[in-house]
Amino acid sequence: MSTTNITKEEVLEAFQFRHATKEFDATKHLSDDEINFILKTAHLSPSSFGFEPWHFVVVQDKELREALKPLAWGAPLKLDTASHFILGLSMKSPMTKWDSEYINHMMKDVKQLPEDVIEMYSKFYREFQERDFNLDTDKKLFDWASKQTYIALGNMMTAAALVGIDSCPIEGFHEEKLEKLLQDKFDVDTTKYGLSYMVAFGYRKEEPARAKSRRNFKDIVSWK
Ligand SMILES: Cc1cc2nc3c(=O)[nH]c(=O)nc-3n(C[C@H](O)[C@H](O)[C@H](O)COP(=O)(O)O)c2cc1C
Repeated sequence: MSTTNITKEEVLEAFQFRHATKEFDATKHLSDDEINFILKTAHLSPSSFGFEPWHFVVVQDKELREALKPLAWGAPLKLDTASHFILGLSMKSPMTKWDSEYINHMMKDVKQLPEDVIEMYSKFYREFQERDFNLDTDKKLFDWASKQTYIALGNMMTAAALVGIDSCPIEGFHEEKLEKLLQDKFDVDTTKYGLSYMVAFGYRKEEPARAKSRRNFKDIVSWK
């Protein structure tokens, strides 16, 4: 298998192209193939121990998009105009704690590890959570899962940019109220999942009003 013969310059061009798109052209839609391509990059994203502590809800239903609006100040224009709108959910402690049913299922059924390896892995995973990373509250465990779900976010947005698709990551929402809505209207079991972010995909309505601004490169990297 070969990887790709895209040049470094082309990759950086895609990073320049990607910007937080404020308004999409509502007449332009991603094909099923395009949105599935983006979702597959989330699927293939790395996660701690490979436990994939995430779920992605693609919200295409107009009524559900409307319901999100009052609780998501960073999203209304995107909800109205984006071709595809995704909720990035992360798992909570009943799913990700070292001794959970889900973790056992991942090791046994998905990774198909033999019993003795599962036992060894469990011990190691417990030490990682309790001793190394001090993940001793539900909030810490959720934030740790969230960090991983953000890797998938970065990959989805970069992959989209590489094929000329625009995106906008969104954290502008009321966490508690939105969680209630997810429970009531989206069939999300919020004892198991919480919302980390939203992300919209589509095609820009117009070019960004301002050029990209970033700190000096030398201020963000140090070499020792
Ligand atoms: C985690 C995260 C949350 C964000 N939330 C919002 C949001 O709610 N609404 C919005 O319009 N932009 C949002 N943004 C976009 C940022 O404002 C934008 O990425 C940043 O200003 C840099 O600009 P650029 O992405 O166009 O290069 C968010 C970005 C990130 C990474």
